[in-house]
Amino acid sequence: MKQFLYSLAIFSLTILFVQCTAKKGARAAIPSLVTPKLYSIAQARWPSITQHDLEMGRSIFTTRCSKCHKAQAVKSRSEREWVKVIIKMAPKAKLTEEEKIKLTQYVFAARKAGKS
Ligand code: HEC
Repeated sequence: MKQFLYSLAIFSLTILFVQCTAKKGARAAIPSLVTPKLYSIAQARWPSITQHDLEMGRSIFTTRCSKCHKAQAVKSRSEREWVKVIIKMAPKAKLTEEEKIKLTQYVFAARKAGKS
């Protein structure tokens, strides 16, 4: 009986281990939603910008800016118009100054990258 429990424990641990590594692999396989084109457009304008900054900007746009209404197409407005919108909407989405900047950089770069 003892031996049976022991092998059961080993077996469960193996399953757990396999599941964890499988999950890790699956996560790594998800491609970045910030395309190389978008990233290079942003880098030409803000040399110190990182892929992570853009991912954050994108995530603010697709989650926090679509809580009350659908997220608008980035191409629907000029840069000037987006700045006005972001100034008006940032308090509604409770964005910090840093988040406002990341959102603006993402929207500007995404417009140029030809995102709808
Ligand atoms: C708490 C709810 C709420 C959140 C969060 C929110 N909005 Fe809005 N948004 C509204 C409402 C209400 C309107 C329509 C009234 C108005 O224009 O003030 C609107 C209108 C808009 C418009 C059209 C207005 C125009 O002048 O063209 C755009 C574009 C927009 N939001 C973008 C955004 C963006 C970008 C964010 C993220 C920073 C955001 N919204 C977050 C409530 C919200």
